[in-house]
Amino acid sequence: MDTERNGEFLEILKKRLTPSRLYHSICVAEQAKRLAEKFGADAEKAYTAGLIHDIMRYEPPENMLKLIDGDGKYKLSELERKITVTLHAVAGEVYLRTVLGVADGEILSAVRYHTTGRENMSLLEKIIYVADLTSEDRDYPDVSEVRETAETSLDKAALRGLSFTIESNAQKNRPIHIDTVKAYNYLAERMEE
Ligand SMILES: [Fe+2]
Ligand SMILES: [Fe+2]
Repeated sequence: MDTERNGEFLEILKKRLTPSRLYHSICVAEQAKRLAEKFGADAEKAYTAGLIHDIMRYEPPENMLKLIDGDGKYKLSELERKITVTLHAVAGEVYLRTVLGVADGEILSAVRYHTTGRENMSLLEKIIYVADLTSEDRDYPDVSEVRETAETSLDKAALRGLSFTIESNAQKNRPIHIDTVKAYNYLAERMEE
């Protein structure tokens, strides 16, 4: 079971990540586990997914593209090939599945969508997305408010993160990943009900 491989994953992460990114990964794992217990998801899967979500964070883009293309599961658009911040999530899924043999589809898709989100996210996907935003190591102006929101509504906390991503990219004239827009619209529509 992939959830019993945390020790092995940790050793790999120590080689692949900086100390602060490793600390971030552990904080996300802990926050994800806590949120899973609170919202009725599998806490062990949440911990493992949180631990490994950034496994490809420092891989050079050309290597990530080679890995993704070689695997063939994802056909990236030209734009997606250029949005390098989101590539590590896709490459992470491919690396975990093809190199480390992670087989749990829920863990894999939580890693896959942790940067962009997507329309109608699964509970575990939402938990990892929100845990990444609210882990103990995170430090941005509204973090305590987002943490508080996460205690009562994963949807509201996720929506906050999606809005922030859309706004900050638009302000810098940067492209916005279509999955982020779809994730935002999906949650925003339901928020009004
Ligand atoms: Fe990430
Ligand atoms: Fe992260």
